[in-house]
Amino acid sequence: MLETIRLRVFRGDASGGEEREYPVRTFPGMVVLDAIHQIQGEQDGTLACRWNCKAAKCGSCSAEINGHPALMCKSRVEQFYDAAGLIRVSPLKTFPLIKDLVTDVSWNYRKAQQIPPLTVAADAPRPFRMMQGDVDRIQEFRKCIECFLCQDICHVLRDHGRKDAYFGPRFMIKIASLDMHPMDDLERRPHLMRAAGVGYCNVNKCCQEVCPEHIHITDNGIIPLKERVADEFYDPIRGLLRMLGLGRSRRQPMPEEAFTAPPEPAAERKPSP
Ligand code: SF4
Ligand code: SF4
Ligand code: FES
Repeated sequence: MLETIRLRVFRGDASGGEEREYPVRTFPGMVVLDAIHQIQGEQDGTLACRWNCKAAKCGSCSAEINGHPALMCKSRVEQFYDAAGLIRVSPLKTFPLIKDLVTDVSWNYRKAQQIPPLTVAADAPRPFRMMQGDVDRIQEFRKCIECFLCQDICHVLRDHGRKDAYFGPRFMIKIASLDMHPMDDLERRPHLMRAAGVGYCNVNKCCQEVCPEHIHITDNGIIPLKERVADEFYDPIRGLLRMLGLGRSRRQPMPEEAFTAPPEPAAERKPSP
């Protein structure tokens, strides 16, 4: 490993900014977050970054390392520097910049609020009984640490800026964890198709490639959700049955307010530089 490397870090805020380069001394096991802390401690205390656990479990230190979304506390420097010892660190591109490496991810929390919670039928037999296989199936989705790396890389949000139309992969697996829950009694498919915009996903799997929890976001979450939506809305036999007044969902309809999200403020549409 090189004794000294160079970190080129984005410095700036919503009005603009530029990359600045800092020399950093390395040590065995050093991660990019250590390098940022060394810069803060010895060269420039005004450098802003968000972190908390330094154990890849809080999801705070998300950034782009050499243009690739990653947790800074899980990224060994020797895996990222080039032949000249250079690593580039920049903020998540998909979300509005606050300062340096800190972005405003509050849009995600508003999306979370727009997903109705687990809703158990009033007449469901007590005590609840669930098959272990059903429990295991949704357990994977509950490993999410809300780092929003998947949201950052999703081209629907990142390149096409369609935060108005698609909730993004993090919230597809949240909906999947509810829709696949054996006790949930809410008919989520119309909401999934219209407000949450599952049809915008083209299943290219970029999201699951960056997930630090190795959640199979597309394979186990989005694809089954798409199949459920297709069954409900595009199966001609089901359509025919519905026209005959048969084959209606036995689940509870979702409250109307779940379909009418307030418009996003303009600032939310402006991504980081
Ligand atoms: S698979 Fe879908 S949700 Fe995941 S990054 Fe691609 S378009 Fe986005
Ligand atoms: S699904 Fe994975 S990448 Fe997306 S927010 Fe959760 S932990 Fe992060
Ligand atoms: S500091 Fe908690 S995930 Fe990196």
